[in-house]
Amino acid sequence: MLQTPSWWQTSVIYQIYPRSFFDSNGDGIGDLAGITRKLDYLRWLGVDALWLSPMYPSPMADFGYDIANYVDVDPIFGTLHDMDVLIEQAHARDLKLILDYVPNHTSDEHPWFQESRASQENEKRDWYIWRDPSPDGGPPNNWTSFFGGSAWQFDEQTGQYYLHLFDVKQPDLNWRNPLVREAMYDVLRFWLDRGVDGFRVDVLWMLIKDEQLRDNPSNPDWKPGDPPVLSQFRQYSEDQPEVHNIIREMRSLLDSYGERVFIGEIYLPIPRLMQYYGETLDETHLPFNFQLVTNPTWEARAIRQIVDEYENGLPDGAWPNWVLGNHDRPRIATRVGREQARVAQMLLLTLRGTPTCYYGDELGMLNGYVPRELLYDPAGKDNPEHSRDYERTPMQWDGSTNAGFSTPGVTTWLPVAEDYQTYNVTAEQQDPRSFLALTCTLLNVRRSLAALTIGSYQSFDQDNSTCFVYQRQHEGTRYLVALNFSAQEQVVKLDENGQGRVLISTHLDREDSVRLSEIHLRGNEGLLIQREE
Ligand code: NOJ
Repeated sequence: MLQTPSWWQTSVIYQIYPRSFFDSNGDGIGDLAGITRKLDYLRWLGVDALWLSPMYPSPMADFGYDIANYVDVDPIFGTLHDMDVLIEQAHARDLKLILDYVPNHTSDEHPWFQESRASQENEKRDWYIWRDPSPDGGPPNNWTSFFGGSAWQFDEQTGQYYLHLFDVKQPDLNWRNPLVREAMYDVLRFWLDRGVDGFRVDVLWMLIKDEQLRDNPSNPDWKPGDPPVLSQFRQYSEDQPEVHNIIREMRSLLDSYGERVFIGEIYLPIPRLMQYYGETLDETHLPFNFQLVTNPTWEARAIRQIVDEYENGLPDGAWPNWVLGNHDRPRIATRVGREQARVAQMLLLTLRGTPTCYYGDELGMLNGYVPRELLYDPAGKDNPEHSRDYERTPMQWDGSTNAGFSTPGVTTWLPVAEDYQTYNVTAEQQDPRSFLALTCTLLNVRRSLAALTIGSYQSFDQDNSTCFVYQRQHEGTRYLVALNFSAQEQVVKLDENGQGRVLISTHLDREDSVRLSEIHLRGNEGLLIQREE
């Protein structure tokens, strides 16, 4: 059992995509001052920590994940002063602030890359991964970019290729070079000195590549039209053993500042993911657990299986975490439907471990409609279906033009989703059974019950394959969560005679007593039940 939890263990993290949260200066793009203006909302909602997607100076080829200066703020988002105010105002409300740290690649417009590409003799040449063409003049190996095509770009001026696992405007840094490591650790110090509470580290598992840059095996099942990322087994371009030394170095730097959180963005199967806690828990605190995002089906048995497998796979003392959505994946309400998304929200907020909520998911926001000519995301350049713009549409604050995100009349960077007049903060604050009311209730109850934050987890076998039932327990208190993954009424049966009291139904309309031997759930209903001891 956890004795003295750290703040990041009992916290709920809220992800803000700064472009889309709140536009304070009427240019159609969200900004830092806009986030500061909405801190009271976030406090009211009941989250504890904010993770900001990148706000650094950037040509925005990948909307800020292409950084041209790690120690400043892009004028679109404001100034360093705005960031200081945001940190201070967040802290004044007891909210932590977590930044996105993008160490794998810079922008091609970063001065380091500008120097590196100037000549083969430049002292920063080895800060990036440059190689001669293969004997036939083609790229040095077969690696493909996540956004499609080769991961190598030929540079006419110096006659070599550089590596970019993402966009051509995102050259990969060479983390085998100690000077790169030092420069990038200085970036961490810069922000820690300004008071940030930790980092979410972009594609952490890709920092080190195979030293010999061997070809990746191809995936024989891949067909044109499938996401380019699936065309290969990325055996040599990611998850290399040497990355763990770097992660330990980063962790000890963070630890020297006290309790700062280290979150790693890592898409790997459970056994490999677990290695990112470190052998002595000396690597990331929270290697992001994307099982609920990547699992292809939303079905009770499959979800129970991944939760159990994940729980059982955790190293001793490692702290779990859960994610339902982010700026790279279709929104949960789009994936499973708005009714079932309420069940998903109960799952997220009652499982053991730190949950991360994507902005707008607390309202049940759907992916927006974005016409093809307005799509910007490089991931959608070859196939609009792969664009991530749909899940990045502006936050829906109220029913006025532009959903209260930006000044009426201004063209917002992406269109506001069509149903914003019904699904927005103001309307949902007035409806006691709204999606927002459910999120808020779950967050409040979670905070007040030690069993939900630090209690143990145990799932129960069920004959009914459409329901998932588990218990959270702390000392003498026990709570059951019964989730109906179907749209039909279901009955779940526990092998005992006790009674329980419904604390929360996802429909927000009942607080009755139930017999544990026969719990009736309506379609798309989840229940949090306090067991009567
Ligand atoms: C992961 C980020 O979440 C994604 O948005 C980005 O495109 C890639 N890393 C590259 O930085």
